[in-house]
Amino acid sequence: MSIKFSKESQTFILSTKSTTYAMKIQKDYLAHLYYGSRIADNDDLSYLLRLKNISLNPNPWGEVDRSFSIGVLPMEYPGGGAGDFRTPAIIVKNESGSTVTDLKYVDYRILSEKPTLEGLPSTYIGDTSGEVSTLEIMLEDAVTGLAVNLYYTVFADKDVIARHTVIKNTSHKELVIEQAYSGCLELPDSSYDLITLPGTWSKERVMERQSIRRGIFSFESKRGTSSHQNNPFAAITAPDTNEMQGDAYGITLVYSGNFSITTEVNETLTTRIVAGINPYDFNWTLAPDQTFTTPELLMTFSDQGIGQMSRNFHDLMREHLIKDRYKGLKTPILINSWEASYFDFDQDSLLALAKQAAPLGIDLFVMDDGWFGNRNDDTTSLGDWYVNENKLKGGLPDLIAKIKETGMNFGLWIEPEMVSPDSELYKQHPDWCLHVAGRVPAISRSQLVLDLSRDDVVDYIGDAIIRVLSLGDISYIKWDMNRHLTDVGSAQLPSHRQRETWHRYVLGVYKLMARITERFPNILFESCSAGGGRFDAGMLYYMPQAWTSDNTDAIDRLFIQYGSSLAYPVMAMGTHVSASPSHSVNRTTNMATRGDVAMFGTFGYELDLAVVTEEEKEQIKHQIEAYHQHSNLIRYGDYYRLLSPGHDNGSAWMIVSPDKEEALVCFVQILSEANALPKLLKLAGLDPDKKYAVNGEQLVLSGATLMNAGLLMEFNFGDYLSQLYYLKSVIK
Ligand code: GLA
Repeated sequence: MSIKFSKESQTFILSTKSTTYAMKIQKDYLAHLYYGSRIADNDDLSYLLRLKNISLNPNPWGEVDRSFSIGVLPMEYPGGGAGDFRTPAIIVKNESGSTVTDLKYVDYRILSEKPTLEGLPSTYIGDTSGEVSTLEIMLEDAVTGLAVNLYYTVFADKDVIARHTVIKNTSHKELVIEQAYSGCLELPDSSYDLITLPGTWSKERVMERQSIRRGIFSFESKRGTSSHQNNPFAAITAPDTNEMQGDAYGITLVYSGNFSITTEVNETLTTRIVAGINPYDFNWTLAPDQTFTTPELLMTFSDQGIGQMSRNFHDLMREHLIKDRYKGLKTPILINSWEASYFDFDQDSLLALAKQAAPLGIDLFVMDDGWFGNRNDDTTSLGDWYVNENKLKGGLPDLIAKIKETGMNFGLWIEPEMVSPDSELYKQHPDWCLHVAGRVPAISRSQLVLDLSRDDVVDYIGDAIIRVLSLGDISYIKWDMNRHLTDVGSAQLPSHRQRETWHRYVLGVYKLMARITERFPNILFESCSAGGGRFDAGMLYYMPQAWTSDNTDAIDRLFIQYGSSLAYPVMAMGTHVSASPSHSVNRTTNMATRGDVAMFGTFGYELDLAVVTEEEKEQIKHQIEAYHQHSNLIRYGDYYRLLSPGHDNGSAWMIVSPDKEEALVCFVQILSEANALPKLLKLAGLDPDKKYAVNGEQLVLSGATLMNAGLLMEFNFGDYLSQLYYLKSVIK
């Protein structure tokens, strides 16, 4: 049983395979006791509260024991204004105008199922063999009629706990939620490191590590999407934690809109972390009996370092987040037209590219941006979802038929959430974009954002996209989103609800995605947002893969893919071989390195094959064969980061099959070094007692040797060179 309540000690103990999470009812408040490595589930952990009078922290009215104060108590879901001066998880304003929020414990239930989250993506149980159960804890503020239910779903064999909160107005008057995080995590100390994934366009999710300090540190998005600039993921580690050892907490939000993750170290040198919807420009009016559901927060812990923390998330997302129908899927190897020709194509040039691609073994041809309305550059036509017959003479059905004649399947790029001012849709419905009355909205990439907080707009655009997807046999869709939100207001909401628009927009996107992905269960969807601007667990619920970055340079991708792997599985990362010199950074890299880096992801090509040499085409054929051979291992194996591109003048990683029978190791040297010895790379995750043949039978070494003494890399003479090693266990 992974959830236990002890009446005597009034404690809740949540146990996973290797972790324990504990809470306690302390004088009507729900206090946090412990999260970390698994400990005995029958010890009374109450002493962990460290009750002590810390001056200037108030006590509840009538309380004679000054050692009890919510100002210092580790709190499970704190309000504000009633004695806790730290960052609140929830603030609700009632009719009197007061925002004092003081939640007391009411009751609990243990559920064998996992509740779904209304309108929001979330993890699910599925047909798992592992134990999953949910603890529901009810809290209330009796003065305002605010009821808050906390949910903790314990994925015992994954070492993950999924949390969310349902807030209900049980009063007869309106309540206004001013801030409602998905969860709060209290840690008993202040010496931790914080690892985040900040970035920008073409440089998404490059890992950053810093010490947590006294005071408040917040990283967030106010851009309407999870964004390139920050990612809704954080690791909190002991200062000496590394990839292989040490304590590491991981948190990530199943949400794609404005978020905030805040750490606070206070006077008692303890740490509070809150994560959820960004309170910036947010509120939500709850009429009597209405509820509001916060996005899901996933938490994991490992004392085996950052690497195991990542693998916990990878396993969870592959099994309990990504839809069942995509499990076991062999992703098609695609060729995408974008970096091959950008907007400059017609049916003949596309078919010419397709005819070059098919004989190489490529499975899927993807027509990117530029096929609809009058779109010849990025200034027009978003919203006009009908084929540009000047470019594609016989329309989509004819093009699809001709692509299929080459033996490949067909895929398409769309950007449903946007409208160009220069479009038929905008002429007909100028009020359908996000805007604020009396203000001219800011423009970005010459486009405006459709007001998807409105059901009529969601319905219209859903119908339009369904019409397009019904035109022929389409196997793949790249769903793009190329600007951030400004002038966030909706013509349909009353003034006191305008600040709901940001979140309502995200709910509208989810509704649209749910409708379209359910309607076309056989289409493989890939999300994209100007590269990797919406690479989050929310998107992965609807679409099992995401375009990682518009930067396809193999060396920059080392950093981007390394950072992304902290939270997200390799099978979710869109990775393509593109031209050299790279269009992103003008760097020259060879075909082998580009192939090796792209192989650890969904794998595909995005370049003009007409200018690729015959020798490179042969390499492409071999890469495709290798990907087919290893795709199961790459998609479902355990991922180990071995060298960090930020520190080691190179990057190395490996994937080991769950049965430890085979593994694939990749090492990329960044800059060549004079007078240097070849590298010894210590491997990980192997069975120490098994013998592994390395790239054939000539070299056979035990797992113990490969992990402790290391595998000798060939000497690399030159910049940006990669090496790939396939390990297969042999009986010797
Ligand atoms: C975004 C995507 C690119 C490409 C273009 C098309 O930038 O990230 O891959 O699809 O849009 O306009």
